[in-house]
Amino acid sequence: MNLKFNHALMLGATSLSMLLAGCSQSTSDTEAKTTTKIADSSVSANAIEIWPTLDIAIKRDEKIEQRVADILSTMTLAQKVAQTIQPEIRDITLEDMRTYGFGSYLNGGGAFPNGDKHAKPSDWVGLAEKMYQASIDDSIDGSTIPTMWGTDAVHGHNNVIGATLFPHNIGLGATHNPELIEDIAKATAEEVLATGIDWIFAPTVATVRDDRWGRTYEGYSEDPEIVRDYSASIVKGLQGSANKNFLGSRQVISTVKHFIGDGGTVGGDDQGNNIADEQTLFDIHAQGYVGGLTAGAQTVMASFNSWNGDKVHGNRYLLTSVLKERMGFDGFVVGDWNGHGQIPSCSNESCPQAMNAGLDVYMVPTGAWKPLLENTIAQVKSGEISQARLDDAVTRILRVKLRAGLFDKPAPAERVLSGNKDIIGSPEHRAVARQAVRESLVLLKNHQQLLPLSPNANVLIAGGGADNIGQQSGGWSITWQGTGNTNQDFPGGTSIYQGIEQAVTQANGNVELAVDGKFTQQPDVAIVVFGEQPYAEGNGDLDNLEFQRGNKTDLALLKSLKDQGIPVVSVFLTGRPLWVNPELNASDAFVVAWLPGTEGAGVADVLFTSANGDIQHDFKGQLSFSWPNSPTQTNINRFDKDDTPLLPYGFGLHYGEKSTLDMALSEQVANENAQALTPLAIYDRSVQAPWKMALVTTEKSATVASSMLENGGLKFRTIDRRVQEDAFKIDWLQPNAGQVRIYHDFLQDLRSYTEASSVMQFDYTLNSAISAPVWLQINCGETCASDIDLSAHLKQTQTWQTLSVDLACFAQSATDFSKIGIPFALSSEGPLSLSLSDIRIVPNAANKADISCPAE
Ligand code: BGC
Ligand code: BGC
Repeated sequence: MNLKFNHALMLGATSLSMLLAGCSQSTSDTEAKTTTKIADSSVSANAIEIWPTLDIAIKRDEKIEQRVADILSTMTLAQKVAQTIQPEIRDITLEDMRTYGFGSYLNGGGAFPNGDKHAKPSDWVGLAEKMYQASIDDSIDGSTIPTMWGTDAVHGHNNVIGATLFPHNIGLGATHNPELIEDIAKATAEEVLATGIDWIFAPTVATVRDDRWGRTYEGYSEDPEIVRDYSASIVKGLQGSANKNFLGSRQVISTVKHFIGDGGTVGGDDQGNNIADEQTLFDIHAQGYVGGLTAGAQTVMASFNSWNGDKVHGNRYLLTSVLKERMGFDGFVVGDWNGHGQIPSCSNESCPQAMNAGLDVYMVPTGAWKPLLENTIAQVKSGEISQARLDDAVTRILRVKLRAGLFDKPAPAERVLSGNKDIIGSPEHRAVARQAVRESLVLLKNHQQLLPLSPNANVLIAGGGADNIGQQSGGWSITWQGTGNTNQDFPGGTSIYQGIEQAVTQANGNVELAVDGKFTQQPDVAIVVFGEQPYAEGNGDLDNLEFQRGNKTDLALLKSLKDQGIPVVSVFLTGRPLWVNPELNASDAFVVAWLPGTEGAGVADVLFTSANGDIQHDFKGQLSFSWPNSPTQTNINRFDKDDTPLLPYGFGLHYGEKSTLDMALSEQVANENAQALTPLAIYDRSVQAPWKMALVTTEKSATVASSMLENGGLKFRTIDRRVQEDAFKIDWLQPNAGQVRIYHDFLQDLRSYTEASSVMQFDYTLNSAISAPVWLQINCGETCASDIDLSAHLKQTQTWQTLSVDLACFAQSATDFSKIGIPFALSSEGPLSLSLSDIRIVPNAANKADISCPAE
């Protein structure tokens, strides 16, 4: 067999990054997106009574309503539509803002003024000021309505260098302390105001039911109780209360997100499908809205996910009948990142369905904002969107702006906290964050009361997370994914090691930092800090909960220390409960620190006594998630009757309490996963979600969005095999014309399939002779691909054939199946015509593969 690595060579610039750029520009609908479903049809008449009418703290103010009506009556159609368009700072200029007067704009995760990661508070205020001035400049658009800036300050003002980063929400859930949460929200509001920004896309109020979800850490709990209480506290902390400073000079507008059911998708699939019945949707997934909207949250973000197959962005029943009419929400609904474009029959550039369903503001990053604006204007003119619906959307937007005082407040640069660099990362805010770190730590095991430690000792600190503020902060930290940072990117912050070092040296103890555990001075105790690497959103989706599956380097470190007779304290950095039985067995004490953020010193506060042996801070944290007893116990939750977790919701040891995990826990990984696996369809009549298809040449990547597409020397068209258009034909018109590629923006974890002896299998007919190698590629990121030459295995015949390739062939050539971006891509070095259908990964079939790779 012929194996060829890094086939990206031939495709040059067509690496994943270009693919990402290409696909975000994709303009039109895919084949599958042709029908519009009527979401309301499945809903029974009195189901609406499940939803309460909320007693919302912020009441209508007739003076404001009158002002809204007055402004609205003067507005042109173009001005109104511009209020509903929210572009992103990387895709608009000041001139665009002056010309169109967008109602709002955002910076996405890891987007900074001037593209400068190290932008200073004054740069942020500078951009806010210029955007604001351009928005009220009426020289071109005739509008003086102030714009507003929204940002993802989801654990502190996390895009800004030097900001205080608080523990991610999962850690806050463990503190069970709503007052502390309100203080965190107040501090966050102030840091955001110091950069001239008006509006925060937080809190996330997902109730997380399946811990494989990559956004588990953005949720407070698997149980709605904490979510509801916290949501109210955060909203009050950010916005102020009705009778106290509501949206005053130290407050920002908040967003409860993502409405609704994001934490309950099948399999924990990010942006997936929630199939809960309506009562469960309310009882489990709506409680954060009950809390947050009652407290007066002014905006709601629609969710990427579907409910029973219908994208929420296009669901009139949920957005209008339930949220606005029944629950009584009178603020506005903002979409998520081109989320409207995911509605069947919509694209990023055109989506009347979303506004008709009740979306008030389209979040439209990328260059799509311009066609979307033009199309929306045309759709109101043609009546496809009613004038009344547009007026209602604009009324809601203006109402929020007036409530927030945007028409009356000074310009961003003149506001009370703007540009005040002492606020960003202030000692007061860091103290609140450090308290939150202390209170979020959960003690799972404390064999023979190893903890607390005396600071007057020889302490070894090991593990990749020990001196790593980036890792301890997780995703949404300076960059979107939280990757690519060093400790220098968090000035003023403290790593866990730095905190310990301070505590120990003050008490005349000794500290040695050795990430790999290779010490020079025999320690009395080792503290090993390890855990997940940062990720955000779908990039964090897993297919089971085993920590470091197939690559247990941290376990090896724990064991090597234990084998030398050194007592081991594990400090686990994680965005979710994971199966760590082997690591628990190899630790004398085990502390879950979640993703504590920049104030790592909070860990030492709890682990160490004072110099004279007094406990300074006992453990307070209690699990707000059940802790799994096997890798496949992925959706065990509080009150589940038929399954028992390793540790239940609410668990958390205090000092002096008997440790319950002292016996050896089972390290058996049940094989149930392999047996339960079903074939994974990648192309079945059409390309299957979440995958997309593209024709990729060295010049560009073109997303397949209809039944025919040509890109350079590549030609695609759907053909009929069993039924209409269930297969496709692909022609390479010239040598090395390029690649037909199935891909997803988020890397997918497909390890279950390699573990279950799977094959990549597809059906084909050859329409021409083969003259040169034909490469099948599986790709796990820019520099991680392997290719197999199929040319000797393809049969020259007009009848459909099946070819299967053992996935082990790819795994052997270093394809990392935990992060697959491209499960299937074909390229031909010579001219070729091939028809394909039924592309799938089939488990337990390697022994019958046409191309096999027996284990070495
Ligand atoms: C996320 C939102 C976020 C938005 C803007 C989306 O991908 O789902 O939570 O507010 O991006 O960055
Ligand atoms: C952007 C981020 C953004 C995210 C939302 C990414 O492509 O770079 O800024 O927050 O999408 O999903």
